Amino acid sequence: MFELTSLETAPPAETEFIGRKVILLQSVDSTNDYAASLVRGGEAKEGAAIFAEEQTNGRGRFGHVWCAPRGTSILMSAILAPEITAAQVPAVTAIGVLAVVEAVREEFRLDALVRWPNDAVINDKKFSGVLARAERFGKPGQRFILGIGLNVNLESRQLPADFAASATSLMTELGAPVSRERVARALLVHLDRWYKNLKLGRFDEIEHRLQRYSSLPGRTVTLESRGKQYTGTVIGLSLFEGIQLRLSDYSTGFFPEALTTLISK
Ligand code: BTN
Repeated sequence: MFELTSLETAPPAETEFIGRKVILLQSVDSTNDYAASLVRGGEAKEGAAIFAEEQTNGRGRFGHVWCAPRGTSILMSAILAPEITAAQVPAVTAIGVLAVVEAVREEFRLDALVRWPNDAVINDKKFSGVLARAERFGKPGQRFILGIGLNVNLESRQLPADFAASATSLMTELGAPVSRERVARALLVHLDRWYKNLKLGRFDEIEHRLQRYSSLPGRTVTLESRGKQYTGTVIGLSLFEGIQLRLSDYSTGFFPEALTTLISK
């Protein structure tokens, strides 16, 4: 019931790009690294989705690890080929996290939100993280790897202690185990929709939806950017410029995704 095997043999019929080809791995270092090796080997089909039951070196943002006990989660990387510029790169992470949030909201009626830039949360607890990277950026055959980790059937206490208190899963929120296949199919469908928006250059739509689902407006947060810490109130979110804070001296500023980590939120 909780197996992903059927995804490989019968990918979702309703997607145009994402998951038209599915690769399911029992164990891999990182689905992002595996996808990157496909790109480098010239075997990367646009929209291919690589799933793993287990990762031995799952990667998170800024060199962190992504932990997920075997068979409990969605661990997936999709290979994307949007024709975008360097300034538009934040849209890749954005479509990943929007797909997670909308899939979970629609499929399970859970109040999932985006915690900019790459987390999906329920009641401020993280259940999913997104990690995008570029391959051959600016060269012919430019690709993006969009990696998504999503806690489905796990208890927070199965995670390392420093993640456990701030993490949740779909099972924890719903009080019962969930079919990972159902989650995976919903995710592929929503990612396909957002990917088409990205390919069509609908950045306003992506930004608007990001703002609508953001968990941060009005919050006081501390973040680190370019080696300095800032504390302020969140007053805006721009897809390309990043998060906007009002600082204690009443000045305002944007902090871009690529250079910013939220420390307290
Ligand atoms: C984060 O929150 O820091 C991002 C975590 C991204 C984890 C996913 S799991 C599938 C894919 N493969 C990886 O090695 N990382 C991403």
